[in-house]
Amino acid sequence: MEEKKIKLTDLPGIGQATASKLESAGYSDLMSIAVMSPADLAAIAEINEGAARKAIVAARKMLKLGFENASDYLKRREKIFKITTGSKNLDNLLGGGLETAAITEAAGAFGSGKTQLGHTLAVNVQLPKEKGGANGKVVWIDTESTFRPERIKQIAKAKGLDPEKALKNIFVARAFNADHQMLLVDKIRDLLKENENIKLVVVDSVIAHFRAEYVGRGMLADRQQKLNRHMHDLMRIAQAHNLAVYITNQVMANPAVMFGDPTTPIGGHIIAHGSTYRLYLRKGKKDARVAKLIDSPNLPEAECVFYITDKGISDQPS
Ligand SMILES: Nc1ncnc2c1ncn2[C@@H]1O[C@H](COP(=O)(O)OP(=O)(O)O)[C@@H](O)[C@H]1O
Ligand SMILES: [Mg+2]
Repeated sequence: MEEKKIKLTDLPGIGQATASKLESAGYSDLMSIAVMSPADLAAIAEINEGAARKAIVAARKMLKLGFENASDYLKRREKIFKITTGSKNLDNLLGGGLETAAITEAAGAFGSGKTQLGHTLAVNVQLPKEKGGANGKVVWIDTESTFRPERIKQIAKAKGLDPEKALKNIFVARAFNADHQMLLVDKIRDLLKENENIKLVVVDSVIAHFRAEYVGRGMLADRQQKLNRHMHDLMRIAQAHNLAVYITNQVMANPAVMFGDPTTPIGGHIIAHGSTYRLYLRKGKKDARVAKLIDSPNLPEAECVFYITDKGISDQPS
């Protein structure tokens, strides 16, 4: 399902002028057309409803939306692979590492290791397959200005990679606000069109801008709707290009919890349902970090210990 190889103008009744209208209204890929109603498409593209219906049906066919037999489904699943976190414990917790065609979320308090795990993954994905990587490149969407190229160089060196090359394989963008953050996900498609072998997308953090911009109860529905679209955009890219998405999430105090850790990931059910794997990170004894896997579709809820070291994430303290 390489959605971007097919252009809007490949749809019946959609010429260049109509495609431009759609693109400027934010409908730039086939999927966005496939899920529209004929009435909406007709209104935005200024075509009649019959023509709109035909274009939508064609888009759905091209994207093969609908059922597939379980054998084809399994073949698609067989392409999925895992990227090592650098810690065997954490890899095992995740069923082998960070899975492609999926979203893995790490939630935790400040200093729990979310960004450090991202840095390590951004290097590890560049390793060859036999070392737990994918010879892949990285897109890093930074919303809190915590991406550190110096740290990438340090980890890359420790793993036997050329530090300068490792940096060149990471496309970094600072997202200035929530809308910009969403636009940057769209831009990943441009990189993929240029045949960049991107195998990891990091969004650190996925929630900060949304949380800052949509304040108060009255804004919550709007926020969740946008966040939902953002999560879907990320998942679509993950699945269409068999790449791993790693997002970080903040936590907030939950006064309802009387025992144990009284914090919960924020973003509500949108992030909870949008993520395939959810890790909850917290500080342990000394320099240790504890990761807990929550809400996995196919793995048991479990915990493990890992460390943040000079060489990145590891099973041993430095
Ligand atoms: N080179 C390093 N060696 C060991 N620990 C490090 C190194 N760099 C950062 N850390 C540790 O990582 C922690 C910060 O983790 P970070 O991923 O930024 O947290 P979060 O993103 O969850 O707020 C700090 O406690 C810091 O001591
Ligand atoms: Mg951070």
